[in-house]
Amino acid sequence: MKKLISIVLMFTLMAAALTGCGSSTQAQTTDTQAVAEAQEETAETPEAEDPETEQAETAQQTDEAAVSETEAEPEMEDPAPAEHSDVLVAYFSATGTTKGVAERIASVTGGDLYQILAAEPYTEDDLNYNNDSSRSTVEQNDKSVRPEIGSEEISLDGYTTIYLGFPIWWGEEPRILDTFVEKYNFEGITVIPFCTSGGSGIGRSGSNMESLAGAGTWLEGQRFSGNVSEEELQSWIEGLK
Ligand SMILES: Cc1cc2nc3c(=O)[nH]c(=O)nc-3n(C[C@H](O)[C@H](O)[C@H](O)COP(=O)(O)O)c2cc1C
Repeated sequence: MKKLISIVLMFTLMAAALTGCGSSTQAQTTDTQAVAEAQEETAETPEAEDPETEQAETAQQTDEAAVSETEAEPEMEDPAPAEHSDVLVAYFSATGTTKGVAERIASVTGGDLYQILAAEPYTEDDLNYNNDSSRSTVEQNDKSVRPEIGSEEISLDGYTTIYLGFPIWWGEEPRILDTFVEKYNFEGITVIPFCTSGGSGIGRSGSNMESLAGAGTWLEGQRFSGNVSEEELQSWIEGLK
């Protein structure tokens, strides 16, 4: 009987020991899971950026942006000044006839147009050549008059040939042409006068203006009727060469 009791006791003790061991294993498993979960969590949570690393990255990004900007937009050189024709067709026209001829010369030569406008425009009364005291008659009778130019100033840089057009007033160039030729420097430029009229020739207009200008190579001028064609102008221009 004693032997039986001690066997039962021994089993009870063994069972107790086994149960204790099991709970320890379970606790260990739970601990391991917690650590794993904690590690997983740490891995998922984005790491707080080290300010220095952040700064370095930002600097790198900025450098990269600068490089790609440089690649996208290569350094621009100063834009070359816009080129223009080396021919200028400058003209004064009170009633539009010379204007039309000037436009045809520009069309034939590919030249630029420049209109000489009076600061104080000529009225119909001003142009009345039957009136001895009209503005145009008074101006043409006084060679020292210099009517003011109202159109924007032009640079003659780059022009090698200037066709200079005007109507004939009392046998010569209107005084505003004298203002024009005294205002600009025609050094190195070939100047070709042309005019329209009711019938008179160009007369002394060219030589008058040449002596007032004091520079430039002045060719003999030509008178045209208002309805001269481009073909006629073309053959006149070819004859000048
Ligand atoms: C004040 C004045 C004087 C003029 N004198 C003459 C002249 O002496 N001889 C002539 O043939 N035509 C003369 N004309 C006519 C113009 O020369 C002619 O109508 C010219 O084609 C007008 O050109 P525009 O329309 O470009 O101003 C005169 C015109 C004006 C207004």
